[in-house]
Amino acid sequence: MKTLRPLQTIEKLENAEALDPIANRARDLVQAVIKPGALRDILHGVPIGHPLHPLMILVPMGTWLSAAVLDAIPGSQKASAILIGTGVVSAAPTALSGWTDWSEGHEQQLRVGIVHAAANGIAVGLYSLSLLQRLRGKSGKALSYAGLGVVSAGGFLGGHMSYRQALGANHVEDVPHRVEPGWHGIGALADLPEGKLEKKLLGEVPLVVLRRGSEVSVLANACSHLSGPLNEGELKDDGGDPCVVCPWHDSAFSLRTGEVTQGPATSPQPVFETRVVGGTVEVLLPHAG
Ligand code: FES
Repeated sequence: MKTLRPLQTIEKLENAEALDPIANRARDLVQAVIKPGALRDILHGVPIGHPLHPLMILVPMGTWLSAAVLDAIPGSQKASAILIGTGVVSAAPTALSGWTDWSEGHEQQLRVGIVHAAANGIAVGLYSLSLLQRLRGKSGKALSYAGLGVVSAGGFLGGHMSYRQALGANHVEDVPHRVEPGWHGIGALADLPEGKLEKKLLGEVPLVVLRRGSEVSVLANACSHLSGPLNEGELKDDGGDPCVVCPWHDSAFSLRTGEVTQGPATSPQPVFETRVVGGTVEVLLPHAG
């Protein structure tokens, strides 16, 4: 089945360079306001292991959709107004989490995202006006139904960003499916430089390797955020735990556990077990195959 023709135009947004000036200014503003640290990691969803934004969306969308149903039932005006007001209030933190993820995206994601944000901003405006009318004793239904239409269009673009453009997806989910079970040699221990990140290949899967003495740490090399090359990143010490910092957007991962120690990544890196047999470094990925 072919994609519906009107929907194909949405793909053109990805390459609409005219959006770059405003998208880049908005990204710089978001990054200046939401600085690296605990708040930014929470807004990304680092503590819950996947993006926070999709969860947050449930509140405004759920309340506004419920209000639309109630508006079709006579005598539900007061309940509708409460739901609409709840949605308007919850839209602020929802947008904040979305802006935070978006600000670490690549240019095609930024272009679609700025239109997604504009649509949602217009929807919030329509719902706010609807609420104002309701508080003045008027219907306000036309404005809230218009808001629902606009926020649905914005949601469609959000789906495009998440599923077509994979913003927020785990970019190393495939690794365990591409590695054969069991131990595999990746080269001589003596050939690994001491204390420096090194790239190795296991079949077609790139690995990032760190040797410290006879201890070897190995992670999948493509960053779980947007596939940045971790071997080109920097090493940092996180309270005695060696971490690799991605060169693209500064996500940091423990080299021992693969755990995210700093976003925007929310998914951990696949971490390999290692051993040295006869001078050769061997790796095993638990649950591979
Ligand atoms: S690709 Fe974005 S932090 Fe690694």
